[in-house]
Amino acid sequence: METESNQRARVLFNGVAKRYDLLAEVFSLWQNRRWRRFLVSQLHVEPGQRMLDLCTGTASVAIHIAKTYGARVIGVDLSENMLEQGRLNVRRHGLEDRVTLVLGRAEQLDFPDGYFDAVAFTYLLRYVDDVAATVAEVARVLKPGGTMASLEFAVPGRAIFKGPWLLYTRTILPLVTKAISPGWSEVGSFLGTSISRFYANTPTEQLHQIWRNAGIGHVNTRLMSLGGGMVMWGTKDEGTSVSE
Ligand SMILES: C[S@@+](CC[C@H](N)C(=O)[O-])C[C@H]1O[C@@H](n2cnc3c(N)ncnc32)[C@H](O)[C@@H]1O
Repeated sequence: METESNQRARVLFNGVAKRYDLLAEVFSLWQNRRWRRFLVSQLHVEPGQRMLDLCTGTASVAIHIAKTYGARVIGVDLSENMLEQGRLNVRRHGLEDRVTLVLGRAEQLDFPDGYFDAVAFTYLLRYVDDVAATVAEVARVLKPGGTMASLEFAVPGRAIFKGPWLLYTRTILPLVTKAISPGWSEVGSFLGTSISRFYANTPTEQLHQIWRNAGIGHVNTRLMSLGGGMVMWGTKDEGTSVSE
């Protein structure tokens, strides 16, 4: 059943879909594409294999995966407007035969166990109520031996980088986005606190444990861009049941 967090995320992203591709790059100071490239490089998919891109948004990661590996990608997101923009992007890249975008929620995926050869999710976990249950649901649809990889913003650990990060996320971003539109203003004023709150509630070591409890082994993390981004990846255990 759809949650209030789902409804909030849908309203938020429906309101920024049109200019999302350009502005997400600008506001990440053009780091997002580097992070995405590294995320995709960790997936190890064979041509023709089936891949899930969860929180696909405007399908940038899905398109990248389809082009890099020749894989078939299903992109899932709960925002109709982001998916509509994503379909335009898929068509523009001539990938309609390999990338399919569907409406859905990460908390309850409409696919059988072990359906995908690899799964990726980007900027998801700050928008769900139960992080552990959502990670377990994503791991459920991954076949044993397949790779799960995620990308999320992070809070730089070193004071010398954290100061500028706080200045950027708490002052500059809210000011600049306010001048663009009410939708972007909401994103700009919410993003920094949302990232800080997420890591205060779910430190990286706890996140690793959540992945391991979901049956994902060999969990690795790479901090990107002085700690402003984080890619996590691991492999689903062969023949291991998911612990509660
Ligand atoms: C910051 S955007 C990222 C889009 C895309 N992955 C990218 O990197 O450009 C986050 C996306 O997550 C989607 N989303 C948020 N909560 C979700 C949920 N519970 N299930 C599915 N999608 C969700 C939003 O609609 C939005 O499109």
